[in-house]
Amino acid sequence: MQLNRFIQINTPYSRQQAKLILAQGRVKVAGQVVTDVNLEIDRFVRIELDNRVLQELQRCYLMLNKPVGVVSATEHPEHQTVIDLLPQPLRQGMHLAGRLDLKTTGLMLLTNDGNWSRRVTQPDSKVAKVYRVTTKDPVAAEAEAVFSRGIYFRYEDITTRPADLERIDRFNSRLTIHEGRYHQVKRMFGYFDNEVTALHRESIGAITLDPKLKPGEFRPLTPAEVALF
Ligand code: URA
Repeated sequence: MQLNRFIQINTPYSRQQAKLILAQGRVKVAGQVVTDVNLEIDRFVRIELDNRVLQELQRCYLMLNKPVGVVSATEHPEHQTVIDLLPQPLRQGMHLAGRLDLKTTGLMLLTNDGNWSRRVTQPDSKVAKVYRVTTKDPVAAEAEAVFSRGIYFRYEDITTRPADLERIDRFNSRLTIHEGRYHQVKRMFGYFDNEVTALHRESIGAITLDPKLKPGEFRPLTPAEVALF
C-alpha cells in the first residue's frame, strides 16, 4: 500500500490533507521522516504521525506440535483449530504455513508474515517434508522403488516427485516427500492398499520439530530457523 493511502485509511484526514501532512514532514516511517506520498509500505514497518504510532506490528514465527483432533485452519465450526491453541494476544493475523490432516500430528509452522509462509509452501520450492508413518500392514517390499519412481495421482493428473522411504520396522517408516498434495502420504501408501494408522510430521526443510514440545505446545522460531526460508 502507498503511504498516502495508509494515512487516509488510518486517520480522519482526506487524501489532500494526507499529502499536506506528508509534505510538512510530520510522518515517520521506520524512524525516518518521509515525504514521498507514493512510498510503498508493508504491514510490519513502524509508522508515526506527529510522533503518535499508527502502525507497529512485529513479525511472528512459531513452531507448534499439532495434536490429534485439532484442525489445520484458522476457524472451524466443529473442531478446535491450531490457532485456538495460541494465547489470544498471539492470534492476530496468524496463519498456517501448510496443513496437516485432523489425525496427523507434529510440526506446524505459523506466522503473520505472508511472504515467509509463501516461501515455505510454494509448490515449486520442493521443500522436503519428513513424516513418520505407521501402517496397518507391513510396508510392501517394493515400496522404496515405487515411491522413488513416483505414483500417478489420477485426480490431479500428476506423478508424485521421487520420495525416500526409510524403514524403521515392518510397520513403521520415515517418508520424505517434496510436495504437499491432498492426503499425499495416505494416498501413497494407499497404492499398496495399506492404511496409514498414525502420521507425524518431523520436519519441513531444515526446521525440525523441537523434541521438548509436547502435543499442543509451541515456541518461537529462532532467527536462524526463520532465515532458512
Ligand atoms: N499426507 C497426508 O496424507 N496427511 C497429512 O496430514 C500430511 C501428509
